[in-house]
Amino acid sequence: MGSLHILVTGSAGFLGSNIVRLFQARGLQVTGTWHETPPEAREGTRWLRFDLRKGLSWYDAPRERIRAVIHCAAIASVEMCEREKELARAVNVEATRMLADWCADRGIDFIFISTDLVFDGTKGWYTEEDPVSPASWYAETKALAEEAARLHHPRSWIIRPSLCYGISRGSPGSFLSWTIGRLSRGETVDFYTNQYRTPVFAEDVAETARRILERRPPPGIYHAGGPERLTRYDIALLAARIFLGSTRGIRPALLERPSIPGGFDDTSLDTAKARRDLEMNFTPLVMGFESVRSMTAAAPCGPQNETFHDGESSHG
Ligand SMILES: NC(=O)c1ccc[n+]([C@@H]2O[C@H](COP(=O)([O-])OP(=O)(O)OC[C@H]3O[C@@H](n4cnc5c(N)ncnc54)[C@H](OP(=O)(O)O)[C@@H]3O)[C@@H](O)[C@H]2O)c1
Repeated sequence: MGSLHILVTGSAGFLGSNIVRLFQARGLQVTGTWHETPPEAREGTRWLRFDLRKGLSWYDAPRERIRAVIHCAAIASVEMCEREKELARAVNVEATRMLADWCADRGIDFIFISTDLVFDGTKGWYTEEDPVSPASWYAETKALAEEAARLHHPRSWIIRPSLCYGISRGSPGSFLSWTIGRLSRGETVDFYTNQYRTPVFAEDVAETARRILERRPPPGIYHAGGPERLTRYDIALLAARIFLGSTRGIRPALLERPSIPGGFDDTSLDTAKARRDLEMNFTPLVMGFESVRSMTAAAPCGPQNETFHDGESSHG
Protein backbone atom coordinates (compact mmCIF):
# COMPACT_ATOMS: atom_id res chain seq x y z
CA MET A 1 0.00 0.00 0.00
CA GLY A 2 2.92 2.34 0.76
CA SER A 3 4.03 2.52 -2.89
CA LEU A 4 0.53 3.11 -4.21
CA HIS A 5 0.14 6.32 -6.13
CA ILE A 6 -3.45 7.44 -6.17
CA LEU A 7 -5.18 9.89 -8.46
CA VAL A 8 -8.07 11.77 -6.84
CA THR A 9 -10.36 13.69 -9.19
CA GLY A 10 -12.12 16.79 -7.86
CA SER A 11 -9.42 17.17 -5.22
CA ALA A 12 -9.99 20.90 -4.78
CA GLY A 13 -13.60 20.13 -3.88
CA PHE A 14 -14.93 19.39 -0.43
CA LEU A 15 -14.78 15.59 -0.33
CA GLY A 16 -11.78 15.29 -2.66
CA SER A 17 -9.66 17.61 -0.51
CA ASN A 18 -10.53 15.57 2.58
CA ILE A 19 -9.54 12.35 0.81
CA VAL A 20 -6.22 13.89 -0.26
CA ARG A 21 -5.57 15.06 3.29
CA LEU A 22 -6.34 11.71 4.91
CA PHE A 23 -4.38 9.71 2.33
CA GLN A 24 -1.34 11.91 2.81
CA ALA A 25 -1.64 11.58 6.56
CA ARG A 26 -1.54 7.79 6.01
CA GLY A 27 1.68 8.14 4.01
CA LEU A 28 0.19 7.56 0.56
CA GLN A 29 1.31 9.41 -2.53
CA VAL A 30 -1.44 11.39 -4.16
CA THR A 31 -1.98 13.23 -7.42
CA GLY A 32 -4.95 15.54 -7.26
CA THR A 33 -6.84 16.84 -10.26
CA TRP A 34 -8.58 20.17 -10.27
CA HIS A 35 -10.69 22.07 -12.73
CA GLU A 36 -11.46 25.79 -12.19
CA THR A 37 -11.04 26.27 -8.46
CA PRO A 38 -7.35 25.91 -7.54
CA PRO A 39 -6.53 23.50 -4.72
CA GLU A 40 -5.09 24.52 -1.38
CA ALA A 41 -1.28 24.28 -1.55
CA ARG A 42 -0.26 21.00 0.04
CA GLU A 43 3.29 19.79 0.26
CA GLY A 44 3.84 16.39 -1.28
CA THR A 45 0.74 16.40 -3.50
CA ARG A 46 1.10 16.65 -7.25
CA TRP A 47 -1.58 18.57 -9.07
CA LEU A 48 -3.00 18.20 -12.53
CA ARG A 49 -5.42 20.66 -13.99
CA PHE A 50 -7.90 19.24 -16.43
CA ASP A 51 -11.47 19.29 -17.56
CA LEU A 52 -12.93 15.82 -17.21
CA ARG A 53 -15.03 16.32 -20.31
CA LYS A 54 -11.86 16.36 -22.41
CA GLY A 55 -10.74 12.91 -21.30
CA LEU A 56 -7.41 11.63 -20.03
CA SER A 57 -5.92 10.14 -23.18
CA TRP A 58 -3.00 12.60 -23.02
CA TYR A 59 -2.02 11.48 -19.53
CA ASP A 60 0.73 8.88 -19.34
CA ALA A 61 -0.43 6.80 -16.39
CA PRO A 62 2.15 3.98 -16.47
CA ARG A 63 4.99 6.46 -16.11
CA GLU A 64 3.23 7.98 -13.13
CA ARG A 65 2.58 4.53 -11.61
CA ILE A 66 -1.02 5.33 -10.85
CA ARG A 67 -2.49 2.32 -9.08
CA ALA A 68 -5.95 3.65 -8.34
CA VAL A 69 -8.31 6.45 -9.26
CA ILE A 70 -10.83 7.78 -6.76
CA HIS A 71 -13.36 9.65 -8.81
CA CYS A 72 -14.91 12.46 -6.73
CA ALA A 73 -15.32 15.18 -9.33
CA ALA A 74 -18.90 15.90 -10.27
CA ILE A 75 -21.50 18.55 -10.67
CA ALA A 76 -22.58 17.93 -7.09
CA SER A 77 -25.26 20.58 -6.72
CA VAL A 78 -28.81 19.30 -7.20
CA GLU A 79 -29.92 22.74 -8.37
CA MET A 80 -27.13 23.11 -10.93
CA CYS A 81 -27.86 19.66 -12.33
CA GLU A 82 -31.51 20.65 -12.85
CA ARG A 83 -30.46 23.90 -14.56
CA GLU A 84 -27.64 22.46 -16.68
CA LYS A 85 -28.85 19.02 -17.59
CA GLU A 86 -26.45 18.38 -20.47
CA LEU A 87 -23.44 19.60 -18.51
CA ALA A 88 -24.45 17.36 -15.60
CA ARG A 89 -24.75 14.38 -17.91
CA ALA A 90 -21.37 15.10 -19.53
CA VAL A 91 -19.49 15.52 -16.25
CA ASN A 92 -21.32 13.03 -14.04
CA VAL A 93 -22.05 10.22 -16.50
CA GLU A 94 -19.85 10.48 -19.62
CA ALA A 95 -16.69 11.40 -17.72
CA THR A 96 -17.23 8.51 -15.30
CA ARG A 97 -17.60 6.11 -18.21
CA MET A 98 -14.44 7.50 -19.82
CA LEU A 99 -12.44 7.24 -16.56
CA ALA A 100 -13.67 3.69 -15.92
CA ASP A 101 -12.55 2.68 -19.44
CA TRP A 102 -9.22 4.46 -19.02
CA CYS A 103 -8.56 2.66 -15.73
CA ALA A 104 -9.75 -0.74 -17.00
CA ASP A 105 -7.42 -0.50 -20.05
CA ARG A 106 -4.43 0.10 -17.76
CA GLY A 107 -5.28 -2.28 -14.92
CA ILE A 108 -5.84 0.64 -12.56
CA ASP A 109 -8.29 0.22 -9.67
CA PHE A 110 -11.32 2.48 -9.84
CA ILE A 111 -13.51 3.81 -7.04
CA PHE A 112 -16.51 5.89 -8.00
CA ILE A 113 -18.00 8.22 -5.39
CA SER A 114 -21.77 8.11 -5.74
CA THR A 115 -24.43 9.34 -3.32
CA ASP A 116 -27.25 8.32 -0.96
CA LEU A 117 -29.54 10.35 -3.22
CA VAL A 118 -29.69 7.49 -5.75
CA PHE A 119 -32.58 6.53 -3.42
CA ASP A 120 -35.80 8.52 -3.43
CA GLY A 121 -36.14 8.60 0.36
CA THR A 122 -39.41 6.69 0.66
CA LYS A 123 -37.93 3.86 2.74
CA GLY A 124 -34.80 4.77 4.73
CA TRP A 125 -31.96 2.58 6.05
CA TYR A 126 -31.18 1.54 2.48
CA THR A 127 -28.84 -1.40 1.93
CA GLU A 128 -26.58 -2.03 -1.06
CA GLU A 129 -29.16 -4.57 -2.27
CA ASP A 130 -31.97 -2.03 -2.58
CA PRO A 131 -32.75 -0.94 -6.16
CA VAL A 132 -31.91 2.68 -6.98
CA SER A 133 -34.83 5.09 -7.36
CA PRO A 134 -33.42 8.52 -8.28
CA ALA A 135 -35.74 11.47 -7.67
CA SER A 136 -33.76 14.32 -9.30
CA TRP A 137 -31.58 14.81 -12.36
CA TYR A 138 -28.49 14.88 -10.11
CA ALA A 139 -29.49 11.53 -8.64
CA GLU A 140 -30.32 10.16 -12.08
CA THR A 141 -26.86 11.08 -13.39
CA LYS A 142 -25.19 9.47 -10.38
CA ALA A 143 -27.22 6.28 -10.83
CA LEU A 144 -26.29 6.19 -14.53
CA ALA A 145 -22.66 6.79 -13.59
CA GLU A 146 -22.76 3.85 -11.15
CA GLU A 147 -23.96 1.65 -13.98
CA ALA A 148 -21.22 2.99 -16.27
CA ALA A 149 -18.56 2.27 -13.64
CA ARG A 150 -19.84 -1.29 -13.20
CA LEU A 151 -20.13 -2.02 -16.92
CA HIS A 152 -16.89 -0.39 -18.03
CA HIS A 153 -14.58 -1.56 -15.25
CA PRO A 154 -14.81 -5.20 -14.17
CA ARG A 155 -13.11 -4.51 -10.83
CA SER A 156 -14.56 -1.22 -9.73
CA TRP A 157 -16.05 -0.19 -6.41
CA ILE A 158 -18.75 2.31 -5.68
CA ILE A 159 -18.98 4.24 -2.41
CA ARG A 160 -22.29 5.90 -1.61
CA PRO A 161 -21.71 8.53 1.07
CA SER A 162 -24.58 10.02 2.98
CA LEU A 163 -24.59 13.77 3.67
CA CYS A 164 -20.92 14.57 4.39
CA TYR A 165 -19.34 16.97 6.85
CA GLY A 166 -15.72 17.77 7.56
CA ILE A 167 -13.07 20.39 7.03
CA SER A 168 -13.77 22.72 4.12
CA ARG A 169 -11.67 25.72 3.34
CA GLY A 170 -13.13 26.86 0.08
CA SER A 171 -16.26 27.16 -1.89
CA PRO A 172 -18.36 25.11 -2.19
CA GLY A 173 -18.06 23.75 1.32
CA SER A 174 -20.15 21.15 3.09
CA PHE A 175 -23.61 21.54 4.60
CA LEU A 176 -21.81 22.17 7.89
CA SER A 177 -19.91 25.24 6.71
CA TRP A 178 -23.05 26.42 4.91
CA THR A 179 -25.12 26.10 8.10
CA ILE A 180 -22.59 27.68 10.44
CA GLY A 181 -21.83 30.43 7.95
CA ARG A 182 -25.44 31.53 7.61
CA LEU A 183 -26.27 31.29 11.29
CA SER A 184 -23.13 33.16 12.30
CA ARG A 185 -24.15 35.99 9.97
CA GLY A 186 -27.36 36.29 11.99
CA GLU A 187 -29.64 34.79 9.34
CA THR A 188 -32.72 32.74 10.12
CA VAL A 189 -32.65 29.44 8.30
CA ASP A 190 -35.33 26.79 7.79
CA PHE A 191 -34.32 23.19 8.48
CA TYR A 192 -36.58 20.29 7.66
CA THR A 193 -38.02 18.16 10.42
CA ASN A 194 -39.17 15.45 7.98
CA GLN A 195 -35.92 14.93 6.07
CA TYR A 196 -33.63 12.22 7.48
CA ARG A 197 -29.96 11.61 6.81
CA THR A 198 -27.12 9.58 8.32
CA PRO A 199 -24.46 12.33 8.24
CA VAL A 200 -20.97 10.97 7.70
CA PHE A 201 -17.56 12.39 8.54
CA ALA A 202 -15.65 12.99 5.29
CA GLU A 203 -12.61 11.30 6.84
CA ASP A 204 -14.68 8.13 7.21
CA VAL A 205 -15.53 8.22 3.50
CA ALA A 206 -11.81 8.59 2.78
CA GLU A 207 -11.01 5.72 5.14
CA THR A 208 -13.62 3.52 3.44
CA ALA A 209 -11.84 4.16 0.13
CA ARG A 210 -8.44 3.48 1.68
CA ARG A 211 -9.58 0.17 3.13
CA ILE A 212 -11.11 -0.90 -0.17
CA LEU A 213 -7.77 -0.27 -1.91
CA GLU A 214 -5.86 -2.04 0.84
CA ARG A 215 -8.13 -5.11 1.17
CA ARG A 216 -9.43 -5.30 -2.39
CA PRO A 217 -12.78 -6.94 -1.59
CA PRO A 218 -14.90 -8.22 -4.48
CA PRO A 219 -16.13 -5.37 -6.68
CA GLY A 220 -19.36 -3.81 -5.53
CA ILE A 221 -21.07 -1.07 -3.60
CA TYR A 222 -20.30 0.17 -0.10
CA HIS A 223 -22.53 2.51 1.85
CA ALA A 224 -20.75 5.12 3.98
CA GLY A 225 -23.00 6.74 6.55
CA GLY A 226 -22.79 7.84 10.13
CA PRO A 227 -24.33 5.74 12.91
CA GLU A 228 -27.22 8.13 13.60
CA ARG A 229 -30.35 8.78 11.55
CA LEU A 230 -31.26 12.40 12.22
CA THR A 231 -33.46 15.10 10.74
CA ARG A 232 -31.84 18.11 9.08
CA TYR A 233 -33.32 20.15 11.91
CA ASP A 234 -31.63 18.04 14.60
CA ILE A 235 -28.34 18.07 12.70
CA ALA A 236 -28.48 21.87 12.50
CA LEU A 237 -29.27 22.18 16.23
CA LEU A 238 -26.30 20.01 17.12
CA ALA A 239 -23.95 21.88 14.77
CA ALA A 240 -25.08 25.25 16.11
CA ARG A 241 -24.59 24.17 19.73
CA ILE A 242 -21.10 22.83 19.07
CA PHE A 243 -19.80 25.53 16.72
CA LEU A 244 -21.68 28.62 17.88
CA GLY A 245 -22.87 27.84 21.39
CA SER A 246 -26.37 29.00 20.41
CA THR A 247 -29.21 27.67 18.28
CA ARG A 248 -30.53 31.11 17.42
CA GLY A 249 -31.77 31.41 13.85
CA ILE A 250 -32.75 27.76 13.41
CA ARG A 251 -36.39 27.43 12.38
CA PRO A 252 -38.21 24.11 11.94
CA ALA A 253 -39.83 23.62 8.54
CA LEU A 254 -41.59 20.86 6.64
CA LEU A 255 -40.31 19.62 3.32
CA GLU A 256 -43.33 19.22 1.13
CA ARG A 257 -43.03 16.23 -1.12
CA PRO A 258 -46.56 15.25 -2.03
CA SER A 259 -45.25 12.53 -4.34
CA ILE A 260 -43.98 10.60 -1.32
CA PRO A 261 -46.60 8.97 0.89
CA GLY A 262 -46.32 10.36 4.41
CA GLY A 263 -44.48 13.42 3.11
CA PHE A 264 -41.03 12.57 4.39
CA ASP A 265 -37.63 12.11 2.81
CA ASP A 266 -35.35 9.51 4.35
CA THR A 267 -32.18 8.45 2.53
CA SER A 268 -30.49 7.02 5.63
CA LEU A 269 -27.95 4.33 4.77
CA ASP A 270 -27.41 0.91 6.28
CA THR A 271 -23.63 0.46 6.59
CA ALA A 272 -23.51 -3.14 7.84
CA LYS A 273 -21.54 -4.24 4.77
CA ALA A 274 -18.71 -1.71 5.26
CA ARG A 275 -18.64 -2.42 8.99
CA ARG A 276 -18.39 -6.16 8.35
CA ASP A 277 -16.13 -6.38 5.24
CA LEU A 278 -13.93 -3.35 5.89
CA GLU A 279 -14.22 -3.20 9.68
CA MET A 280 -15.28 0.42 9.35
CA ASN A 281 -16.24 2.21 12.51
CA PHE A 282 -18.26 5.25 11.49
CA THR A 283 -17.80 8.28 13.74
CA PRO A 284 -20.77 9.42 15.87
CA LEU A 285 -21.89 12.91 14.86
CA VAL A 286 -20.96 14.69 18.10
CA MET A 287 -17.44 13.26 17.93
CA GLY A 288 -17.11 14.20 14.27
CA PHE A 289 -18.32 17.76 14.85
CA GLU A 290 -15.96 18.11 17.82
CA SER A 291 -13.13 16.86 15.70
CA VAL A 292 -13.88 19.38 12.93
CA ARG A 293 -14.12 22.11 15.52
CA SER A 294 -10.72 21.29 16.97
CA MET A 295 -9.14 21.06 13.53
CA THR A 296 -10.63 24.35 12.32
CA ALA A 297 -9.79 26.16 15.57
CA ALA A 298 -6.11 25.48 14.86
CA ALA A 299 -6.35 26.55 11.22
CA PRO A 300 -6.09 30.08 9.84
CA CYS A 301 -9.62 29.89 8.44
CA GLY A 302 -12.44 27.74 9.70
CA PRO A 303 -16.07 27.41 8.76
CA GLN A 304 -16.87 30.84 10.14
CA ASN A 305 -15.06 32.89 7.52
CA GLU A 306 -15.51 31.06 4.27
CA THR A 307 -17.64 31.64 1.26
CA PHE A 308 -20.54 29.29 1.68
CA HIS A 309 -22.51 27.25 -0.74
CA ASP A 310 -25.30 24.80 -0.41
CA GLY A 311 -23.14 21.78 -1.05
CA GLU A 312 -24.73 18.71 -2.46
CA SER A 313 -28.41 19.25 -2.06
CA SER A 314 -31.17 21.58 -1.10
CA HIS A 315 -30.86 22.38 2.54
CA GLY A 316 -33.60 22.80 4.96
N1 LIG B 1 -20.84 16.68 -0.11
C1 LIG B 1 -21.71 15.71 0.17
O1 LIG B 1 -22.44 15.79 1.18
C2 LIG B 1 -21.79 14.49 -0.72
C3 LIG B 1 -22.66 13.45 -0.32
C4 LIG B 1 -22.77 12.32 -1.12
C5 LIG B 1 -22.02 12.22 -2.28
N2 LIG B 1 -21.20 13.24 -2.65
C6 LIG B 1 -20.42 13.06 -3.89
O2 LIG B 1 -19.07 13.34 -3.57
C7 LIG B 1 -18.40 13.90 -4.69
C8 LIG B 1 -17.74 15.20 -4.28
O3 LIG B 1 -18.75 16.12 -3.83
P1 LIG B 1 -18.35 17.48 -3.12
O4 LIG B 1 -19.41 17.80 -2.17
O5 LIG B 1 -16.93 17.42 -2.68
O6 LIG B 1 -18.50 18.49 -4.34
P2 LIG B 1 -17.59 19.72 -4.76
O7 LIG B 1 -16.96 20.34 -3.57
O8 LIG B 1 -18.45 20.55 -5.66
O9 LIG B 1 -16.45 19.05 -5.62
C9 LIG B 1 -16.66 18.61 -6.92
C10 LIG B 1 -15.41 18.87 -7.71
O10 LIG B 1 -15.62 18.44 -9.08
C11 LIG B 1 -14.92 19.34 -9.91
N3 LIG B 1 -15.43 19.37 -11.28
C12 LIG B 1 -16.64 19.83 -11.69
N4 LIG B 1 -16.70 19.79 -13.05
C13 LIG B 1 -15.51 19.30 -13.48
C14 LIG B 1 -14.96 19.04 -14.76
N5 LIG B 1 -15.65 19.29 -15.90
N6 LIG B 1 -13.70 18.55 -14.84
C15 LIG B 1 -12.99 18.30 -13.71
N7 LIG B 1 -13.44 18.53 -12.47
C16 LIG B 1 -14.70 19.04 -12.36
C17 LIG B 1 -15.12 20.69 -9.26
O11 LIG B 1 -14.12 21.60 -9.69
P3 LIG B 1 -14.48 23.13 -10.06
O12 LIG B 1 -15.27 23.64 -8.88
O13 LIG B 1 -13.17 23.77 -10.21
O14 LIG B 1 -15.31 23.08 -11.32
C18 LIG B 1 -15.03 20.35 -7.77
O15 LIG B 1 -13.73 20.52 -7.26
C19 LIG B 1 -19.45 14.08 -5.77
O16 LIG B 1 -19.33 13.00 -6.66
C20 LIG B 1 -20.77 14.01 -5.02
O17 LIG B 1 -21.77 13.47 -5.86
C21 LIG B 1 -21.08 14.37 -1.90
